[in-house]
Amino acid sequence: MTDASEAREAPEADKAPEAGRAPALVELDDVSKYYGNIRALEGVSLEAHAGEVTCVLGDNGAGKSTLIKIIAGLHQHDAGTFRIEGESVRLSKPREALDRGIATVYQDLAVVPLMPVWRNFFLGSEPTKGVGPFKRMDVEFMRRTTREELLRMGIDLRDVDQPIGTLSGGERQCVAIARAVYFGAKVLVLDEPTAALGVKQSGVVLKYVAAARDAGLGVVLITHNPHHAYLVGDRFILLKRGTMAGSYVKSGIELDELTRQMAGGSELEELSHELERAPEPLHLGGEPTDRS
Ligand SMILES: Nc1ncnc2c1ncn2[C@@H]1O[C@H](COP(=O)(O)OP(=O)(O)O)[C@@H](O)[C@H]1O
Ligand SMILES: [Mg+2]
Repeated sequence: MTDASEAREAPEADKAPEAGRAPALVELDDVSKYYGNIRALEGVSLEAHAGEVTCVLGDNGAGKSTLIKIIAGLHQHDAGTFRIEGESVRLSKPREALDRGIATVYQDLAVVPLMPVWRNFFLGSEPTKGVGPFKRMDVEFMRRTTREELLRMGIDLRDVDQPIGTLSGGERQCVAIARAVYFGAKVLVLDEPTAALGVKQSGVVLKYVAAARDAGLGVVLITHNPHHAYLVGDRFILLKRGTMAGSYVKSGIELDELTRQMAGGSELEELSHELERAPEPLHLGGEPTDRS
């Protein structure tokens, strides 16, 4: 349902900020996305504000990655409105999202495993010193800055020269978060940063999610773990087969209710009913044979 007027971004799609409150850093309003005739998202709304964590929860195939890709400029929405700081936008490439301060950390982190941590920290944005034929990468600056920036986030890496591939999954997520903060991101989007991690490492990553929030970024955290979401989240949206199954602020929902909804709530109750033991013992393998 994309007509020309919508593609041109009618000015009335720009929403005046509500009195006293800055517009959301990122806002999706009734957004839909189709892959051919597969409905990946329909009527999804979300807000991310500075200094807050917005959690997107949903099962596999719920549309979480699709939603991220729209915010990150990889895909375009087919209907609804996507606003950045109140301005209606339609991003056509990831660079546009980056230029507007939206940094995305994908689950399969784009790192070069054999390169040192500091090289990965500055990958694609290497500072140089000198001019003309003497221009070269400022290695000392990058080493020092990487170490300082990680320390500022509370990560004490003794050796920033070690290949990033030697860090644990959780540490690599943390480096990616510190990098986004250093390069001045306003919005940090994280796709299931704790999915492959154990309890302790997940805790460390969530600590840096909170640190990014406290640094004033708006964080969009994708997860299917309601416990992780509830630890750091200010807002929660629940996706189910591409549609909104719920939207809450923290004061509006308790952890056990969020968990119940994520677990499939009524569907799970139905299943548990079906799995209940039959009151009579089941006779398997026919009648017992008569021993005579
Ligand atoms: N590039 C694509 N082409 C066609 N269908 C897709 C594509 N990407 C995702 N889908 C479909 O869209 C739905 C939502 O997928 P996705 O956003 O990856 O969900 P999630 O990240 O929550 O697991 C799924 O049914 C998926 O099969
Ligand atoms: Mg996904």
